[in-house]
Amino acid sequence: MNILVLGGGGREHALAWAILQNPKCDRLICAPGNAGIDEIAECADIDIEDGGVVADFCAENAVDFVVIGPEAPLAAGVADTLDAAGIAVFGPSAAAARLEASKSFTKEICDACGAPTAAWARFAAAGPAKDYVRAQGAPIVVKADGLAAGKGVVVAETVDAAEAAIDEMFGGAFGGAGAEVVIEEFMTGEEASFFVLCDGETVLPIGTAQDHKRIGEGDTGPNTGGMGAYSPAPVMTPEVAARALDEIVRPTVAEMARRGTPYRGVLYAGLMIRDGRPRLVEYNVRFGDPEAQVLMMRLGAQAFDLMQACAEGRLDAARVHWAEDHAMTVVMAAAGYPGAYEKGSEIRGLEGLPETSSEMVFHAGTRREGGRLVASGGRVLNVTARGASLAEARDRVYAMVDAIDWPEGYARRDIGWRALG
Ligand code: AMP
Ligand code: GLY
Repeated sequence: MNILVLGGGGREHALAWAILQNPKCDRLICAPGNAGIDEIAECADIDIEDGGVVADFCAENAVDFVVIGPEAPLAAGVADTLDAAGIAVFGPSAAAARLEASKSFTKEICDACGAPTAAWARFAAAGPAKDYVRAQGAPIVVKADGLAAGKGVVVAETVDAAEAAIDEMFGGAFGGAGAEVVIEEFMTGEEASFFVLCDGETVLPIGTAQDHKRIGEGDTGPNTGGMGAYSPAPVMTPEVAARALDEIVRPTVAEMARRGTPYRGVLYAGLMIRDGRPRLVEYNVRFGDPEAQVLMMRLGAQAFDLMQACAEGRLDAARVHWAEDHAMTVVMAAAGYPGAYEKGSEIRGLEGLPETSSEMVFHAGTRREGGRLVASGGRVLNVTARGASLAEARDRVYAMVDAIDWPEGYARRDIGWRALG
């Protein structure tokens, strides 16, 4: 089969790496890709948020199957266009992608199907939003309703901070995404990410993970897109996973089908778990980044069979073959990230590193300049390994991090600390 992956980050490098291991894959193209993906697949520079452009590209290149990595093309309806053109696609329709693209939509779905989540209210103007915050008190959570590249959430410790966030959002800091604001009860507990595939009807769990969102060790400092992750998440015991499926995920999927907008693709439930009881923080309609890196390392070639079964509505007969293993990924970022950082610094030492089914450096933001590999983004490399235990995976990962010669890079040294004890 000829397979096209849309996206160009570490998630897509991991997806491409797993797909290539599947014997069904004859030709792999990634758009736009990056310098790491370019070493294993063809890269194509097309506008991946324009469904017509992607469909034409598929026709010209005899693409049989498209895997959509990021949320923006999903929200833009690229899966709908491909589906209408008769091209098999892994990823939800724009209507189903609202589970990520609109926070208030997700809250309405939770209310309609009884899924436990934080109490909430929606506002279209700052005045009533501030009245609500003053009545509720802090801590409280203020969210831009729409897609804001992971930046539209403020966990406010004080009423003043919440009011400032409300002003910022209605002041246009997130453009149209902030035209409406959702205010939520602050939930406490331990967070975990739960990944399921869904073909509109059948739900198949494919793994759990925990990530570290803060830039600093001990989970301190500003939020980032994620500085590292590990799988499985110890807090997701079989009992918690069963409750999350029965109380949150299956009711959501049934409600989406009832509304005539069935969910097809990977559904990523961000959960808050306290005393064994999961509540929904948010849905994403795609794999997490960097969570996909650890999931793909654990699933390997079967990941593509599962995506294909999902797209073809055959999940009822699909099985995940689990290894009792653990995986960890450590993000190497450009110093200064998530604030201002330099691009263009040279990265050396990757040639000597192992590339095996249990050790890989996925590229998130790199490009080639002449013969040199240089950093081209904030999160730059995802150093990933697996092992029989999380400690073994951690030791392998940090041995690789230490072998990378990139003085301008930064990595947290404590990924997995909660699970490692
Ligand atoms: P989101 O983009 O919705 O995942 O929010 C980003 C992060 O903010 C989450 O991973 C949580 O750490 C935190 N967060 C979001 N909503 C809540 C909430 N209602 N209570 C506590 N923390 C939250
Ligand atoms: N790592 C969090 C996300 O992908 O949204």
